[in-house]
Amino acid sequence: MSLKEIEKEILSCRRCPLWKLKKNYVPGEGKENAEIIFIGEAPGRDEDEKGRPFIGNAGKLLTDLIENTLQLRREDVFITNVLKCRPPNNRDPTEEEIKACLPYLLKQIEVINPKVIVCLGRFAAKTVFDHFGIPFTTISKERGIIREKNGKYLIATYHPAAGLYKPPLKEVIEEDFKKIKYFIKKTKNKKVTLFDFFSK
Ligand code: URA
Repeated sequence: MSLKEIEKEILSCRRCPLWKLKKNYVPGEGKENAEIIFIGEAPGRDEDEKGRPFIGNAGKLLTDLIENTLQLRREDVFITNVLKCRPPNNRDPTEEEIKACLPYLLKQIEVINPKVIVCLGRFAAKTVFDHFGIPFTTISKERGIIREKNGKYLIATYHPAAGLYKPPLKEVIEEDFKKIKYFIKKTKNKKVTLFDFFSK
């Protein structure tokens, strides 16, 4: 399966009622064989308007962190969300919506086969950790720790939107991105075994 094929499936999805309320599906975008995938919660208003992930204010912060802290190009990573449709008024995703939509994210992860999975915010972190069998408590406890699971490295951080309205959290997100940068640099072209040395 290719990313295009997954996208095609998403673009006609009716697995939960959100398809009726959205303006556009937001499947995600980026490179097919990206080394790193960023997973947010769900599209917001701007994303719903345009059908592209993380293009509003939170997206600007994410793009800035990718380009300036990680020194990668946005088009060289993959950016997506747990939900591919916007929940009305940006309300929290429901368990049913997450369950219905998760197979798309899992297929995207399978096809891209990224080395690093970055979960942005508690919904993405809880959903992805649950899938990988990693216990999740709270985002403030679990963030900033790089974990190895099935040959992949997972890290959670606060959602960029949280960083926008609470500046101290923005600094924490930056710190976590610096850790990711250091990790990528240190493990370039290497097969690594873990790795508690980055842990808090
Ligand atoms: N917030 C998210 O979680 N995802 C987006 O794409 C935009 C805002």
